[in-house]
Amino acid sequence: MNQYPDKVTPLSYPINDLLAKRWSPMAFSDKAIEKEKISSLFEAAKWAPSSFNGQPWKIIYAEKENKEEYDRLASLLVEGNDWAKDAYLLLLICASKNFEYKNKPNKHHQYDTGAAIENLFLQAVSMDLVGHEMAGFDSEKAYKLLNIPEEVSVLAMMAIGYPGTPSDLSRDLQERQNAERERKPIEKFAFKGKWKQ
Ligand SMILES: Cc1cc2nc3c(=O)[nH]c(=O)nc-3n(C[C@H](O)[C@H](O)[C@H](O)COP(=O)(O)O)c2cc1C
Repeated sequence: MNQYPDKVTPLSYPINDLLAKRWSPMAFSDKAIEKEKISSLFEAAKWAPSSFNGQPWKIIYAEKENKEEYDRLASLLVEGNDWAKDAYLLLLICASKNFEYKNKPNKHHQYDTGAAIENLFLQAVSMDLVGHEMAGFDSEKAYKLLNIPEEVSVLAMMAIGYPGTPSDLSRDLQERQNAERERKPIEKFAFKGKWKQ
């Protein structure tokens, strides 16, 4: 496992276990995810905060047991993300650009959808699943293949499943999966009072 790095500064209040456990592996088992767990993933997304409670997220998903639907989503992935085709569940994450109310533009549709997907991700981790988000897919093809209206932003894909066996991955992917996880120090992004170069 390549989880929360142990070299972080010791904290009086350690981050929540769920946050510490979340990571993005590439080894997935194709074991089926229970339907109840899939429902809970979407329930978790549902309770995310959003601007004017607009809830702009839209998720197209496919389970491995439904080959036609699954292959359709899998066909969007770039070659570098082929490892995701082992995962039982694939998601295409989209967001409505406009509020339902008077169809006014929603400046925060992407922001809100990111929050919903992090909810979903953490819910997955709480149910012993792993996930991995992806920008490497053909979004133009997604619009055509899945009849997605222009009014919607196609944002990302995600693989979710039970953890797989890392030694089943190619050597290259094993190296990527085992690479040390890097993060910027807090002072690079949290500025007290005003912007800091
Ligand atoms: C919007 C987004 C797009 C990403 N795209 C890819 C991708 O196409 N392929 C990939 O292997 N990982 C992708 N990732 C995973 C990131 O590389 C990963 O989250 C980051 O390196 C931090 O690692 P961690 O999730 O294990 O903490 C993406 C993550 C996000 C949030």
